[in-house]
Amino acid sequence: MTTVTLRRIEARDLDDWFALQDQAMADPFTRDGLAAEFDNHLSRPTGLFRKGELIAAFLGWLVVDELQIFQVATSANHRRQGLGRQLLTHVLRRARAGGATTATLEVRTSNAAAIALYVNLGFVIDGERKGFYPDGEDALLMRATLV
Ligand SMILES: CC(C)(COP(=O)(O)OP(=O)(O)OC[C@H]1O[C@@H](n2cnc3c(N)ncnc32)[C@H](O)[C@@H]1OP(=O)(O)O)[C@@H](O)C(=O)NCCC(=O)NCCS
Repeated sequence: MTTVTLRRIEARDLDDWFALQDQAMADPFTRDGLAAEFDNHLSRPTGLFRKGELIAAFLGWLVVDELQIFQVATSANHRRQGLGRQLLTHVLRRARAGGATTATLEVRTSNAAAIALYVNLGFVIDGERKGFYPDGEDALLMRATLV
């Protein structure tokens, strides 16, 4: 397998980032919404690149001691290659080094792939938000302790 590079997603990557998450996510950000993340000092947009191509993306905020995760997406034709796990493992390690003690997220109850990925990385279900999504689906709250 070709080597991958993990680095911050920058303004020059915006078109690729928007396209990837727009195709992958049930609830994608708008292009302007993503662009605003470059000016947010809490934001940690991180990409996994292969031969310069963005193939997995992460978005979260490091808020003091908590990493709040908003988006993890692997390009559809690169899934089940361990890339989501590699990206999230990297981001969690960096967050811990930056002072985070916990990571939190919401996920659709129907999103078995994402839930399995998070459980695989040590997240546990910490609650539920009824009707959280615009179409009325419930969210699971998940949390990991970063030690
Ligand atoms: C969820 C997602 C990011 C996983 O990315 P990925 O790169 O395919 O995941 P990985 O290959 O690193 O998988 C790691 C582990 O997660 C679990 N997993 C991932 N996809 C799975 C699937 N379709 N079914 C069951 N388990 C799955 C497995 O435990 C897997 O380990 P294994 O392959 O050794 O069994 C990807 O499916 C995706 O982009 N989905 C659409 C976007 C999305 O819903 N994001 C989450 C929103 S909160």
